[in-house]
Amino acid sequence: MEMKEGGLQRPPKEKLEQMHSFLELIMQYKCALMEVETKLNVLNTEFMLKHSRNPFEAIKSRIKSLDSIIEKLERRKLELTVESIEENLFDIAGIRVICSFPDDIYTTAALLKMQDDIRMIEEKDYIKNPKPNGYRSLHLIVEVPIFLSEEKKYMKVEVQFRTIAMDFWASLEHKLKYKKDLGDQEAISAELKACAEGIAMLDLRMQSIRDRIGESKE
Ligand code: GTP
Ligand code: MG
Repeated sequence: MEMKEGGLQRPPKEKLEQMHSFLELIMQYKCALMEVETKLNVLNTEFMLKHSRNPFEAIKSRIKSLDSIIEKLERRKLELTVESIEENLFDIAGIRVICSFPDDIYTTAALLKMQDDIRMIEEKDYIKNPKPNGYRSLHLIVEVPIFLSEEKKYMKVEVQFRTIAMDFWASLEHKLKYKKDLGDQEAISAELKACAEGIAMLDLRMQSIRDRIGESKE
């Protein structure tokens, strides 16, 4: 944009249109986030009534920042256009469901997957198949319809399910990614991996304690 006397010149019409369609796409992803969040909250509410406890502790949702969108498109050598964002990036809308116990992850995910307006796009089970660094979570990419004034549009949402302990681990491990200059990086990675295995065992032990408490008569 050139500076002109009296202030900034308006950007060309084409740029304004691109900005408009980018904002429109982000608005649509926000609507899709609300839809999936509501579905999960409905399941949580019903589960509470039936079983007197919540299957998940918290839901966190986010829209990918513009900086991360650009970084990911550039890293994958993809075009920097609104169409390319929608075609190639499946995690613009992201939801993280933090469960108390591992079996709640599979119960909640199965109930979401079987809803007849949800389309399953992709499933990665990093709990049954942990990443080499020890990362564990269940990742789903689903499509959910949003009803706009002139169309019904399916939008992709990434849903990550993990336990409280897996989430605690992932936030600490995430910090390692941004600290490249650590001398003892290898030792830290090995220790983190051992923690991930310890956590997986603890999650199952806690789950079995829950079952034993549940079975005992008052
Ligand atoms: P991305 O380019 O990261 O989207 O890779 P991908 O499309 O192969 O996705 P994947 O399902 O493996 O991971 C997507 C998201 O899961 C990431 O953006 C993180 O939020 C989370 N994640 C995956 N691997 C790790 C990991 O090793 N550590 C942590 N802390 N988070 C991870
Ligand atoms: Mg991804």
